[in-house]
Amino acid sequence: MDKLIIQGGTRISGEIRISGSKNSGLPILAACLLADSPMDICNLPHLNDITTMLALLRCMGVGVTINEKMCVEVDPTTLTDTEAPYELVKTMRASILVLGPTLAKYGKADVSFPGGCAIGSRPVDIHLSGLEAMGAEIAVEGGYIRARAPNGLKGAHFVMDKVTVGGTENLLMAAVLAKGKTVLENAAREPEIVDLADCLVAMGAKISGIGTDRLEIEGVERLRGCTYTVMPDRIETGTYLVAAAATGGSVKLRDTRADILTAVLQKLEEAGAELEIGESTISLDMHGKRPKAVNLRTAPYPAFPTDMQSQFTAMNAVAEGTGAVTETIFENRLVQVNELNRMGANIKLEGNTALIQGVPRLKGAPVMASDLRASASLVIAGMVADGETVVDRIYHIDRGYECIEEKLQQLGVNIRRVPG
Ligand code: UD1
Repeated sequence: MDKLIIQGGTRISGEIRISGSKNSGLPILAACLLADSPMDICNLPHLNDITTMLALLRCMGVGVTINEKMCVEVDPTTLTDTEAPYELVKTMRASILVLGPTLAKYGKADVSFPGGCAIGSRPVDIHLSGLEAMGAEIAVEGGYIRARAPNGLKGAHFVMDKVTVGGTENLLMAAVLAKGKTVLENAAREPEIVDLADCLVAMGAKISGIGTDRLEIEGVERLRGCTYTVMPDRIETGTYLVAAAATGGSVKLRDTRADILTAVLQKLEEAGAELEIGESTISLDMHGKRPKAVNLRTAPYPAFPTDMQSQFTAMNAVAEGTGAVTETIFENRLVQVNELNRMGANIKLEGNTALIQGVPRLKGAPVMASDLRASASLVIAGMVADGETVVDRIYHIDRGYECIEEKLQQLGVNIRRVPG
């Protein structure tokens, strides 16, 4: 297994480009299943999760052609199979996103039941009850979700028990081809859902309330292929900003958006960062200062994103003062705390809150990545530690950060990958 080796102590400085969003690329690729003609999806990040989704589409018989700029032509007209097998679903929970579109278009879908994962049990009950409300018959057999709607789905009024990103995406993709009108209430409002909805509209879907918690969808007979460019990755953006803030450095990020990062930018300003927002750029400068500790609480968009929690925990670990970080979305997502403490951090866990007393510097150590965002926090910790930090199991990082070591090297960080 590959490892990352980081020599701490460098202040980040420089400019990099932000990649396309993993979390909107995945549902947009699933949405290609709904089209009657080929789709061209551009600005996809080169990441393991995207490769897994493309492999899943291929295994369903969908034509996938990748050009040199990570624009992918997806031709759903050659589909031969409506099954998402265990071998692929077990490596990526987001495979569940093919359920809604496959069922809506072909009247049947068999998707392996996604298991739990490092950050909690992550059920899909809301995805399933929403599809049932649209008339689907669903059985769970042999570890598979077997969904049937031989006469097509029909519009429904459905209130989601909990705000769920994947659930909203699956039901939205199902509703665009259902007969009649669907209303989804208590829908998630994440920017990735807006990106998916914009793509569906470009394919001919009729959706109103985009960006709100009430989506109204008027089902259409068919959707056509189109060319769509995936939005920038807000979590990658936030991660590099936090890395710069934690090291007292400065960074300029290109091809990104500030308007979808308000909660994160607000916390960075509280930490003492000077920000400059351009049309598609964000610059951050700490002027060599140590960050000030911040308190935060994760919640659905537009509040502070759970996917940025662990990076701020790492920044707080070397900040001036004490910060409290509360995780409300996933039950087991403060796992990085033990590894940070092994590096000399002073963090106490009280239920779902981490109380972090900042220390001036951490100490390099061998550490182990346990999930995607937790591993990003260990890389940040390595940058503010004396000596060498070896981050093991970095396949987690490769699921979500395109060319992380190249980008960090470009920012002056002494980091290298050692194949294992
Ligand atoms: C997506 C993101 C992930 C992010 C998360 C929250 C993708 C590929 N992943 O994950 O990076 O951390 O949103 O912003 O976009 N829940 C249920 N029943 C369900 C569905 C969800 O109880 O049927 C619960 C989950 O266990 C969790 C909460 O709802 O506690 C939010 O999960 P959800 O928004 O669905 O996360 P994902 O879509 O899996």
